[in-house]
Amino acid sequence: MSARRDFDYLVIGSGIAGLSFALAAARHGRVGVVTKARMPEGSSQYAQGGIASVWSPDDSFASHAADTEGAGAGLCRPEIVDLVVREGPERVRELIALGTRFSLRPDAEDAYDVDLGLEGGHSRRRILHALDATGQEMMRTLVEAIASVRTIEVLERHIAVDLIVSSKFALPGPERCCGAYVLDLESSRIDVAAAPVTLLATGGAGKVYLYTSNPDVATGDGIAMAYRAGVPIANMEFIQFHPTCLYHPRAKSFLISETVRGEGGLLRRPDGSRFMPEYDERAELAPRDVVARAIDQEMKARGFDNVFLDVTHCDAEFLEQRFPTILARCRSFGIDPVREPIPVVPAAHYTCGGILTDADGATPLLGLYAAGESAMTGLHGANRLASNSLLEGLVFGHRAADDAVADAAERPSLPATLPAWNPGRARTSDEAVLITQNWDEIRRLMWNYVGIVRSDRRLARARQRLDVILGDIHRDYWAFLPTADLVELRNLAAVADLIIASASHRRESRGLHFNLDCPQTDEVHWRRDTILVRDPATARPTPYR
Ligand code: FAD
Ligand code: SIN
Repeated sequence: MSARRDFDYLVIGSGIAGLSFALAAARHGRVGVVTKARMPEGSSQYAQGGIASVWSPDDSFASHAADTEGAGAGLCRPEIVDLVVREGPERVRELIALGTRFSLRPDAEDAYDVDLGLEGGHSRRRILHALDATGQEMMRTLVEAIASVRTIEVLERHIAVDLIVSSKFALPGPERCCGAYVLDLESSRIDVAAAPVTLLATGGAGKVYLYTSNPDVATGDGIAMAYRAGVPIANMEFIQFHPTCLYHPRAKSFLISETVRGEGGLLRRPDGSRFMPEYDERAELAPRDVVARAIDQEMKARGFDNVFLDVTHCDAEFLEQRFPTILARCRSFGIDPVREPIPVVPAAHYTCGGILTDADGATPLLGLYAAGESAMTGLHGANRLASNSLLEGLVFGHRAADDAVADAAERPSLPATLPAWNPGRARTSDEAVLITQNWDEIRRLMWNYVGIVRSDRRLARARQRLDVILGDIHRDYWAFLPTADLVELRNLAAVADLIIASASHRRESRGLHFNLDCPQTDEVHWRRDTILVRDPATARPTPYR
């Protein structure tokens, strides 16, 4: 038997965006937080470098905005950039007041007198950090704060399967989102989580690529759910590859923070020579797309398995004190960065595109909001500036909650009855291999054909292969009862479909999207977002409006 739970605000995802929204909304109503693993699992927890915010007297909003727009390669929305850089410091101060302890300056007088780090693309030191484990410290504060609020109920090990959209079930009233179907991973039951306001804060989709810095939960679920609900999805061709992930057979998704280059780390070929000065005058501190493409070029043209990040010339005591997490992890694999260069490769890191939202995090579907990495607010444009995403999650988590609370009185109440999940004739699958084979194929084809460097032939090959997999998934999905693996596979395939469609649509190279067959940036025709929606007739992505 399935059950119905009612909330005033339903939050799907418990990273920085979801928990910021939940804390703000809980002052005004009952909040349900649905999260598919156990808190604090998610990308927020693994953030290393820090959070960008205008903090020192020699910095300015204009400078942070200019750096953000410089990285974004013409596609940032200036009004969004402006509001994020201006609201950021206030949100960060609230986090410190809540208990977050950022690393302090040596002579600091209080918790606000912080040490500021530097990362690629930033013209000033403006990265607040907690040594090299910033996400862990921020999430510790947020998870503790959530636990003390009576009006918040957290449902761990519950995975949202699909949104409940009124028109799909001919429900009375306007077209709107009424909540979500949620699979309880302990009981395997699918319940209705009903709410007049739903926030998608499900993070990014790095797992669509074979190599990624992202944790296992990053399967693009929110983007796929919104897409199936008919919500526009924007700029999915702009996938950010982080230049430096640890290269070791046993090191799954371990990032070597960009701040290591900010503090003097140099990239070298296996023979010890530097190569970044040959690609960009900013050398190791060029924006990520430039550095990742240079490494990719070095590896492909010269047949290297990896390149090296060298900090052996830096002060050993400083390295021990500033990067304890990174040093400990490298040493656990037998690599001592103080004495030898670290082998590194690029890996999929950040999804710049996502669910299209306005300046308040609202989507075009009534009652549905999105925030954090699953959203496309217009902050990042064609390339995200380092350490701007924790900031985006924090600012838009709050803005979305404020907007949802302000509109509460005008929102029509939900229908008294919402349809229970209909399993049809689905049965339990006894063939896990059907899922794992498709899962592996998607991740490999995306890495090989839709990775750092693309071409028309590679994109066409990716499309051909993915279409076969989409057909398989469509059949299996309705034949078998949903499991977490099946739900995630369907979502990964939908996200891959959107990335391939968006990358094929854009006939130029810009920011993170580089196509060998159209390598120039075309300011006349393509200085615009790629916005796709699901065509209900063909179930394929098609241009919006
Ligand atoms: P997440 O923190 O990823 O949270 C998503 C949540 O949604 C998780 O709780 C997940 O379990 C849940 N979820 C997903 N699908 C479902 C579903 N179907 N049902 C229920 N729950 C679901 N950015 C910076 O600004 N600075 C940094 O220093 C930095 N370092 C990084 C280092 C690493 C290794 C990585 C991977 C990313 C880093 N980033 C950094 C990026 C940044 O961490 C993320 O973009 C940001 O934390 C995303 O926050 P979020 O709240 O949107 O999502
Ligand atoms: C890093 O520490 O290099 C990651 C920073 C980011 O992704 O913003």
